[in-house]
Amino acid sequence: MERTRIIQVLKSETHGHGVLIKGWVRTRRDSRDVIFLEVNDGSCLDNIQVIIGEEMMKRPDLAQVSTGASVAVRGTLVESPAKGQKYEIRAGEVEVYGLADPESYPLQKKKHSFEFLREISHLRPRTNTFGAVFRIRNAMAMAIHSFFQEKGFLYVHTPIITASDCEGAGEMFNVTMLDLEKMKITGGKADFAEDFFGKKTSLTVSGQLEGELLALSLGDIYTFGPTFRAENSNTSRHLSEFWMVEPEMAFAVLDDDIRLAEEFIKRIFSLCLEKCGDDMAFFDSRIQPGIIKNLESIIRQDFEVVTYTEAVGILEKSGSAFEFPVGWGLDLQSEHERYLTENHFERPVFVIDYPREIKAFYMKLNDDEKTVRAMDLLVPGVGEIIGGSEREDRYDVLLRRMKDSGLDPDEYWWYLDSRRYGSAPHAGFGLGFERAIQYVTGMQNIRDVIPFPRTPRNAAF
Ligand code: 4AD
Ligand code: MG
Repeated sequence: MERTRIIQVLKSETHGHGVLIKGWVRTRRDSRDVIFLEVNDGSCLDNIQVIIGEEMMKRPDLAQVSTGASVAVRGTLVESPAKGQKYEIRAGEVEVYGLADPESYPLQKKKHSFEFLREISHLRPRTNTFGAVFRIRNAMAMAIHSFFQEKGFLYVHTPIITASDCEGAGEMFNVTMLDLEKMKITGGKADFAEDFFGKKTSLTVSGQLEGELLALSLGDIYTFGPTFRAENSNTSRHLSEFWMVEPEMAFAVLDDDIRLAEEFIKRIFSLCLEKCGDDMAFFDSRIQPGIIKNLESIIRQDFEVVTYTEAVGILEKSGSAFEFPVGWGLDLQSEHERYLTENHFERPVFVIDYPREIKAFYMKLNDDEKTVRAMDLLVPGVGEIIGGSEREDRYDVLLRRMKDSGLDPDEYWWYLDSRRYGSAPHAGFGLGFERAIQYVTGMQNIRDVIPFPRTPRNAAF
């Protein structure tokens, strides 16, 4: 008999037939002549109750089964007399794969803090919350692919190891095979010409630059992969390793980019609500009350668009006491972003046309020569979820902007070539995948929406 996932068992239309399930025991309860096991296999939030009759109660391996043990149960699906569950399984055969010592198994049935669960990230996927988070993560990834595939975007893969700093922020992790231990002892200097790639290389902060090359050959593309930032930010919205979705559209300008981003966010949120009803109900009742209504209203609303200059005006007039200063030319801090989206507009808002000094070199310079065609999408609760722009497609201007930003044009000859041969308007953006999951689930800390978070001073598991 083939194993059935519990989600299928619970959806089943008929009782009285044989099933085989395999999973982990959430709780065990004994009465005089039966053992009740609540078993979960990660396929859904719900457990299935297994009834083990008197004839097996004396079995020594079964006597030791407790929370955390893994079992296979073959039995008959019957209607449950108990409240709150449609079916239970009357066990015919039980096989115990692995026991879990109740003295040391950390996930006993009680409420654990998310901080504690982070310390046992190897086991936390077995909890209700993390099971639900990782199922939502899966559904969101599929929603992203189906959105772009339906629109005819090609899924392309850009390198993880790179010699270029896309964001120009110098926040890159080095990749080296140089013998650091030896250098430390001999006091030698790093000679990257001697290194594996013959030059200094790093982990990518974004697949955008290579994504642009592919868009300027293939048309609309997207990448979806891990990116790395060695920025020392210990916040609830920053990871050192995170996943980014980066579409790039050929023959497109900032307006197209904004429209794509709005449609994209609405579509992936609604696919998620559609596909993950039970898990979303869990987040709505246990993590952030009202989250479903909130997402539904986001899907209905028109997002707002303001220029950076207007946004600064709104913040200056707000009368709010911000921790960080507000002024034209200064970057918006997360408190400012949240004021705009949560207090002022009370909906998602695109901020566009930022000062060129605070944005990356590749963004298209506006005619005022002061601002660039950037767009950040801010959402309530999270702040910046998307960063994007129309790209500088004029060779001369791009070259000047690179030099102004301290980049060596010789190192980026291949990127500049795309503006020498058949350059065209193009635009794209990056969605922080974990920030999107935070938004959908209401999880407060970004470390709790990725299975094994990497943050400054933490690379456990
Ligand atoms: O705004 P960012 O830095 O934009 C780019 O990297 C562009 N190259 C994207 C593009 O146009 N193709 O990053 C994009 C998004 C941010 O809006 C944020 O949601 C997320 O990536 N992000 C992070 N998420 C988690 N941890 C971090 N340290 C993040 N840094 C950025
Ligand atoms: Mg950004």
